[in-house]
Amino acid sequence: MTRKVKIFDTTLRDGEQSPGASMNTDEKLLVARQLLRLNVDVIEAGFPISSPGDFESVRRVAELAGDRATVCALTRAVHKDIDAAADALRYASRPRIHTGIGVSPSHMRDKLRMTEDEVVARAVDCVSYAKRFVEDVEFYAEDAGRSDFDFLVRVIQAVVDAGATVVNIPDTTGYSLPDHYASRIKYLHDNVRGVENVDISVHCHNDLGMATALALAGVRAGATQIECTINGLGERAGNTAMEEVVMAIRMHADELDAHTDVNPREFVKASRLVSSITGMGVQANKAIVGANAFAHSSGIHQDGVLKQRSTYEIIDPAEVGAGQSQIILTARSGHAALKHRLVELGYELGESELDKIYRAFLDLADKKKEVFDEDLESLVGESEREASA
Ligand code: KIV
Ligand code: ZN
Repeated sequence: MTRKVKIFDTTLRDGEQSPGASMNTDEKLLVARQLLRLNVDVIEAGFPISSPGDFESVRRVAELAGDRATVCALTRAVHKDIDAAADALRYASRPRIHTGIGVSPSHMRDKLRMTEDEVVARAVDCVSYAKRFVEDVEFYAEDAGRSDFDFLVRVIQAVVDAGATVVNIPDTTGYSLPDHYASRIKYLHDNVRGVENVDISVHCHNDLGMATALALAGVRAGATQIECTINGLGERAGNTAMEEVVMAIRMHADELDAHTDVNPREFVKASRLVSSITGMGVQANKAIVGANAFAHSSGIHQDGVLKQRSTYEIIDPAEVGAGQSQIILTARSGHAALKHRLVELGYELGESELDKIYRAFLDLADKKKEVFDEDLESLVGESEREASA
C-alpha cells in the first residue's frame, strides 16, 4: 500500500484571493458541497477576521462539513485573528487553525520589520495561543521558498515543539525550482526533531508555471499534505491545481509511493462550478479540465485514437468526469476521422463517395476553424443530389 497524501483544498481562501474571484457565503457553500463530493481531507474555508461575511462563511462551511472533512481557518500571527478563527470554528467537528508568519529575509526585513529572534518568538506564541482553542494547529512559514535553510529549521523546530500538528512550507512567490524545493523539504525531514509526528504540507504558487511540479517534488521528498485549488485558482498566477496534482499522483502512484482519497470523477463538475461562480474562465488547453484536454483534431492523432484511445491519451476522460474523447473535424483531419463521424451520423458510404466528400470537406475546412455535423449533412446531401442528377 502506498502512503496517503492528504489533500488540503484552499479554493475558498487562497483561490478566492484571485482578483475578481471573491465568493459570498452561499457561493462558498456550493463549492464546499462539491469539495465534499471530491472527498478532500481539509477545506480551508476562509480568513474569518477579514470580514463579517467571511467569518459567516467559515462558520457555515464547518456546519456543512460535519465530520466529513477538517475545516480550517486562516489567521495572521495575531491573537485577535486567532480569536476570530476559533469563534468561527466553534461548532466544527474537526476544526483547524492555520496561523503563521513570514520567514524570508525579504518578509522579515521589509514587511514585518522584525528580527529573526522576534519572528521565532511570535511563531511560538501564535501556535501556543491557537492550541488553547483547538488541538489541530497548522503553522505556515510564509515565503519559506526564499528563506535561509537553517533559519527555517529553527522556526519549524520551535513550532513543532510548541505543538503544531502540521507545518506548511509555502513557496509563496512561486520562486523555487522543483529540485531545490524538494531539498528544502528533505532538509527539514533530516534536521527537525519530531517532524515525523506531524504533517509536512506543500503550498506552491504558479508564478513560473511550476506549482504542480513543485508540489510533486515536495511529495517525493516526504511531504504528506498538498495545498491546492480547483482550476489552480489563487493569488497572482495561482496555486497548484488539485486536478493536476491528484491525477499525476494516480498516474505515478508506485514511483511516488503515494495515493490520495480524492474522487477524480468529480473534477470536471468542480471545475465548471468554480469557473461559473468566480467568473474565471478555464483556458481550453488547461490540463485535465480544459475543453481541449481530450480533443483531437489532427489526422495522425485521430487515426491513432480511433484505433486505440491510449495512443494519444494517458487518461480516460470518463475517469475525470469529462465523458468521451472528442474528434474535432478541421483541415488537419484525415479520412479515418471523417469516415468515423459520418458513420456516427448514420451514413454508410462507399469508398469513392467517401473520397469525393473528403475532397469537399477539405475545401470547406480550409475556410473555417471547425467542420460541424450540419456541414457534413449538407456535404452528403449535395453529393447525393449530384449523383441523382
Ligand atoms: O502563499 C502563502 O504563503 C499562503 C499562506 C498564507 C499559507 O497562502
Ligand atoms: Zn498562498
